[in-house]
Amino acid sequence: MHSRVHLVLASMDSLDLVSPYLFKYKRRNFLVKDELRPTGLDALQHFEIRPTDIFLVTYPKSGTIWMQQILVQIMDAAHPESAEDATNRSRVPWLEGRTADNPFRERTDPRIFRSHLPPDMLPQGVKAKQIKVVYVWRNPKDVLVSLYHFAHSWVLLETPQSFEDFFQQFLAGKVYMGSWFDHIRDYHNTRDQLNICFVQYENMLKDLRGEVVKLCAFLGKDLTDEAIDHVVEMSTFESMKTNPKANYKDLVETNTYKKKTMRKGIAGDWKNVFTVAQNEDFDNVFKEKMSNLPLTCIWEIKE
Ligand code: A3P
Repeated sequence: MHSRVHLVLASMDSLDLVSPYLFKYKRRNFLVKDELRPTGLDALQHFEIRPTDIFLVTYPKSGTIWMQQILVQIMDAAHPESAEDATNRSRVPWLEGRTADNPFRERTDPRIFRSHLPPDMLPQGVKAKQIKVVYVWRNPKDVLVSLYHFAHSWVLLETPQSFEDFFQQFLAGKVYMGSWFDHIRDYHNTRDQLNICFVQYENMLKDLRGEVVKLCAFLGKDLTDEAIDHVVEMSTFESMKTNPKANYKDLVETNTYKKKTMRKGIAGDWKNVFTVAQNEDFDNVFKEKMSNLPLTCIWEIKE
């Protein structure tokens, strides 16, 4: 056997495979097709954090690129000297990403990172230095539908056999990053140990300006009313749709994504997709897993 193939197979051997596309490490599921392996994940714990760093953390499809754009706009208004003419993908690099931009490249402070990691796998400095963490979360029925579509788009994910199949995998936590329920619970349970601000995707849909104002207060950025208006204008769905710096169009152009990331951007799309039986199943699992968590999901927004 060719030695390189041998090596790859040998390193795959040691992975705890959930499927040909996912391996499990510390209760979470990571991508076999990505380059990140358990040793690399462990090494991230020792990544040096600066006191001015900001972390944007999400479960996938909860509004990451939206918050990336908001944070970049806020920071550009507050620190015009460090504004860069680059995509948000490289300005807010993905900590655990290896196929995207280099998260470790030298950047001026304040640096922003994005991550999907659970709290116990974040760099230790996040907690030790009490840096600011923005956690965006979204109702899990819409996360499921958005992730289902994304699984048809991103080359690293397995294309679902059917919606029902994917639905069951999501409920069982057998999807990329593992269980939504675990992710939110872990962040909720460690909220007192972190300097964390929870932002709800649906609240941004309802009142984007109000959420931007709260974020500025959390980040300690004193923006004028005009500057806040500008952040809001630049962060609407319509505006981001045509802004290649914000919408990951480059990944569509290079075929990493087969579909555009700005899909629908609404609350309640699950109602167009779930059957009555699936909805009942979901509600039962939700009740069981979320019973003692004081978090209220916003399932839809009526006009
Ligand atoms: P849908 O697939 O439901 O449309 P992430 O960035 O975490 O991958 O999340 C992607 C989801 O956020 C997609 O949801 C996308 O449309 C939505 N989104 C991105 N920018 C948005 C914006 N400005 N307003 C509302 N939704 C947005």
